[in-house]
Amino acid sequence: MNKSLILISGIFIALCISSCYYDVEDELYPNTGNCDTLNITYSQTVAPIVSSNCKICHSASMAQGNVVIDTYAAIKIYADNGKLLGSLNHDSGYEPMPKNQNKLSDCNIKKISIWINQGAPNN
Ligand code: HEC
Repeated sequence: MNKSLILISGIFIALCISSCYYDVEDELYPNTGNCDTLNITYSQTVAPIVSSNCKICHSASMAQGNVVIDTYAAIKIYADNGKLLGSLNHDSGYEPMPKNQNKLSDCNIKKISIWINQGAPNN
């Protein structure tokens, strides 16, 4: 191998290492600015979001559309059947939520989708 070939292979390897390395979490959930997605839990993350944005229509006493999501057991059903994320993302085939309002922030949707992808644990 002559010197320039070694140099070129060196550059190629360096480029490959830098471009091939990526964080899987970033790939799945593109960065949406200053969004803290560490330590996502049901009690500390998901429940407060639901409480301030959804509970008014989806508690046991006000079950609009017959949907109750203000307890873990209740929301787990919608986390598992895809309707929670489908409606938050305003995906076709789902009723867009929160009803007649803007989508939740990208950060809040991202947090809930991470929780769902973790299996929607009761933590
Ligand atoms: C103003 C009342 C209201 C608010 C606020 C609201 N919803 Fe709803 N939701 C409804 C009604 C009514 C339905 C029944 C479908 C319809 O009529 O749109 C429904 C249906 C749903 C469904 C079933 C969707 C489907 O495709 O079957 C889910 C899941 C849901 N809501 C989640 C949420 C979440 C999560 C929030 C908070 C981010 C939220 N909702 C906020 C009124 C509301």
